[in-house]
Amino acid sequence: MHRQGLEAVEALVKARRAPYEAINVRAITPVIGAEIEGVDLAGDLSNQQFDEVHRALLEHHVIVFRDQHLTGEDHKRFARRFGRLHVHPLQAMREGDKERLEVKATANSKFVAGEGWHADVTCDAEPPMGSLLYIQQTPEIGCGGDTLFANMHLAFDMLSAPMQAFLETLTATHDGAIPWVQGYGYRPNEEFQKNVHPVVVRHPETGRKLLYVNRGFTSHINELARFESTALLEMLYRHIETQPALACRVRWTPNTLVFWDNRCTQHQAIWDYYPLDRAGHRVSIIGDRPAA
Ligand code: SIN
Repeated sequence: MHRQGLEAVEALVKARRAPYEAINVRAITPVIGAEIEGVDLAGDLSNQQFDEVHRALLEHHVIVFRDQHLTGEDHKRFARRFGRLHVHPLQAMREGDKERLEVKATANSKFVAGEGWHADVTCDAEPPMGSLLYIQQTPEIGCGGDTLFANMHLAFDMLSAPMQAFLETLTATHDGAIPWVQGYGYRPNEEFQKNVHPVVVRHPETGRKLLYVNRGFTSHINELARFESTALLEMLYRHIETQPALACRVRWTPNTLVFWDNRCTQHQAIWDYYPLDRAGHRVSIIGDRPAA
């Protein structure tokens, strides 16, 4: 990693000095991800536990809770403490609970959810602030189906100052047709959402800048010619997707809930367990309009 990136990591780690008292927090890497212990998400969290879980999310961006035994209502009740629940456009077209998206792969699956790098539903005007994926069934060989997460603050911090300044002048279009029509072949009655967001935004709670384009939803940069937009986006995607220092890898065990801050991370599900099964549900929380 070059010096600018190392300085960003140093600042990030230094900012995280205050101890936790009501929960245990064990970082997965210095820059992203933490395992949280001492919380039963099916019960009522004390205010201090809730505040510390919230702080852990802001500091580590991806938090992992193992051995949780949750009903659908428990899952949603915990998520609701952070805000109003989001209805995923694909779940809106299905029967059943609209606020819990089924995430399931079997021997009959033609694709799995989230197989390419993305942030969730950035085509919305107010994309989810976070998602809580609860995986109950993992592949029976005891491994496979890990999820990769990458830190978009650090992705921005690691760019050179002239590139950062240029990106801050740009906006990009995010289009739901890219994953769901072009990718999965859905033919909805109404068109999926399409919205414009700045290429560099500030996290609404911490104020830190971050890179806000993703291969899953971003179609183009509005101020550039198409060939320029394609080249610039490809450079940024390669930067995000091929820097191991930005990322952590979460290995699922049955009944694990992972909560990611969708405002400042991207993730990719790894389908390396075919023809075995993996199953769970995702609940997402509506966020704010991304702002520069
Ligand atoms: C998703 O993108 O929400 C799916 C992630 C996963 O299955 O690990």
